[in-house]
Amino acid sequence: MPSPAPLPAPVLGSMRFGDWGARLSPDAVADLLAAALDLGIDTLDLADIYGGHTTNALVGAALAARPGLRARLRLVAKVGIRMASSPGNPRGVQHYDLSVAHLRRALDGTLAALGVDRVDTVMLHRFDPLLEPAAIAAWVRAEQAAGRVGGFGVSNFDAHALALFDGRLPVVANQIELSLAQTSALDDGTLAATRARGAEAQAWSPLGGGGLLDPQSPAGGRLHAPLRAMAADFGLDPAGLLLRWVATLPDTRVVLGTANPRRLADAVRACGEALPRDAWYALHEAARGHPVP
Ligand SMILES: NC(=O)c1ccc[n+]([C@@H]2O[C@H](COP(=O)([O-])OP(=O)(O)OC[C@H]3O[C@@H](n4cnc5c(N)ncnc54)[C@H](OP(=O)(O)O)[C@@H]3O)[C@@H](O)[C@H]2O)c1
Repeated sequence: MPSPAPLPAPVLGSMRFGDWGARLSPDAVADLLAAALDLGIDTLDLADIYGGHTTNALVGAALAARPGLRARLRLVAKVGIRMASSPGNPRGVQHYDLSVAHLRRALDGTLAALGVDRVDTVMLHRFDPLLEPAAIAAWVRAEQAAGRVGGFGVSNFDAHALALFDGRLPVVANQIELSLAQTSALDDGTLAATRARGAEAQAWSPLGGGGLLDPQSPAGGRLHAPLRAMAADFGLDPAGLLLRWVATLPDTRVVLGTANPRRLADAVRACGEALPRDAWYALHEAARGHPVP
């Protein structure tokens, strides 16, 4: 029997590189990116707000310090959140802003901070009920024509929100929270709607932000024993089994949250193969606390 095709390599997330996590130096970010690329991870997830609007510049400094990295990387740039502390937010109200004026400004800022002239995917970070899909589609097409943007993606969009772009603009990816701690995208149609459009799901917080590895947390407590019991069957540790559970979902790439290069090889190996159905469901049931009906 032919062996199954290998699963796609995960994406590396940058949320915890800087002030929201590991506070890496530009050189350490460059080392992390080089290690990821050498393991086949070529996609880097970014957002203008990460590190309180500092992490894109940190990545930009890493790219400037290590010529050659940029050309090997595919950059996913999320925009569309204005934090209370974001510049140019006079009322200090945290909100979503998918107006074309804000998106254009945020893309300008992203390209400048990264020191690049193009991102591979521009991604709407959160659904904004005030969004105008026709205006956004026209803006994205103009940015594509100008060579500043490759594909168009969304994040945290449910099935109905995704439908707003049907017939207007192809969606290449929907980045959604997906782990054994957060499975609502499987039940509410979000994952199915993403796949139905030929888009990939990018699963953020696959370890529940690390909480799934904490036996004191509610979900981590429920999963502690089954993870330890099953991990050895697959030659993985509990974190690897959690990643493989997510990577098993079709058309889904894990977005890794680590800032530690020593974890990357194990993570890539964990994401490279699917779990058998019975093992996948056993963990799903352990996390839910009850079997499927
Ligand atoms: N679209 C959105 O709205 C959205 C929201 C949140 C996040 N994201 C994206 O998703 C990415 C991943 O999210 P996340 O950071 O929450 O992912 P995660 O993988 O659930 O959590 C990462 C955390 O778990 C820790 N960890 C990893 N492996 C571990 C292990 N074996 N043992 C103990 N701790 C371990 C990491 O620490 P170490 O650094 O020490 O490994 C890190 O602190 C982010 O970087 C961001 O790009 C997107």
